[in-house]
Amino acid sequence: MSESAVPLVVARRRFGETTRRDLWWVQPLLVFAGLSTFVVYATWAAFQGDHYTYGPYISPFYSPEIFGTSPHNWFGPKPAALPPWLPFTPALLILPIPALFRFTCYYYRGAYYKAFWGDPPSCTVGEHRTTYWGENSFPLILQNIHRYMLFISMAVLAILVVDAWEALWFADPATGRVQFGVGVGTIVLAANVTLLSGYLFGCHSMRHVAGGCVDQISRAPLGARAYRCVSCLNRRHMWWAWTSLFAVGFADLYVRLCSMGVWTDVRIW
Ligand code: FES
Repeated sequence: MSESAVPLVVARRRFGETTRRDLWWVQPLLVFAGLSTFVVYATWAAFQGDHYTYGPYISPFYSPEIFGTSPHNWFGPKPAALPPWLPFTPALLILPIPALFRFTCYYYRGAYYKAFWGDPPSCTVGEHRTTYWGENSFPLILQNIHRYMLFISMAVLAILVVDAWEALWFADPATGRVQFGVGVGTIVLAANVTLLSGYLFGCHSMRHVAGGCVDQISRAPLGARAYRCVSCLNRRHMWWAWTSLFAVGFADLYVRLCSMGVWTDVRIW
C-alpha cells in the first residue's frame, strides 16, 4: 500500500478572529480593569508620603519604613545626602519588591499578556504577532528573576507579619502605657498577611524550593510532603493572587482614611 503525504495548510487567523462562541473577552477585560485600578491607586498612594500610619498600624505599602518620619521608621528620616529633586517616600524604596514579584508571577504573566498586549487576546483567538520568541529572548527573559524575587518577598512578608503582631498593642494616649487590644485595623492587617502568605507560598517557584530543589521528588520524602502543601495552595493561585492584591490595597486605604480622620478605627477588644 502506498502512502502519500497531504500538505496541511494552517490558515493564520486575523487579530481577534476566533471560532469561539463564549464570552472569551470578559476575563481579559476584567483583568485589564482590575490591574489598571490597582496600579493607578498604588502609584498615587506611594507618592503621597503621608497618612501611612495610624496608632500601631502601618500601611503594607510603606513597610518596612527604612527611612521616614513616623515612629515605625528603622534608620531615621530621609538621608540628607539624597538630592532634594529626587522624589522620595518610604514606599518608593520598598514597593518595587512586591511589584516585581507580581509582575513576574506565572499567573499574572498569562493574564496581562492577554489583557494588555493581546498576545494572544485569549486561547485560540488570533493575535497580531506573526513570530514567537517565547521568554527566551530579551526582554522577556528577565521574567526569570521571579525565583529571586520570591526570596526577597519572603523577607518583606515576614516584616508584615511583625506589623500585624504590633497592631495588637495600643498605646494609651493619656498615660502612654501599651496595652493589648484588637481593632478593626488589626483584623485588616492580619487578613492581609494571611492572604499574602497564601499567594506567596503557592508560588510555582516555591514548589521547587519546598520539594528540596531536587529533580526527582521521591528522593526527598520530607520535601514531598512540603511539595504537596504548596501544590494545594498553587491549585488556587489565581484566587490568592486577586484576593491578596485587593487586601493589600484595602489595608493601605484603611490606614490612610483612619489617619485622615475619614474613618474611625473601632476597638473590638
Ligand atoms: Fe505566582 Fe510565583 S508563580 S507568585
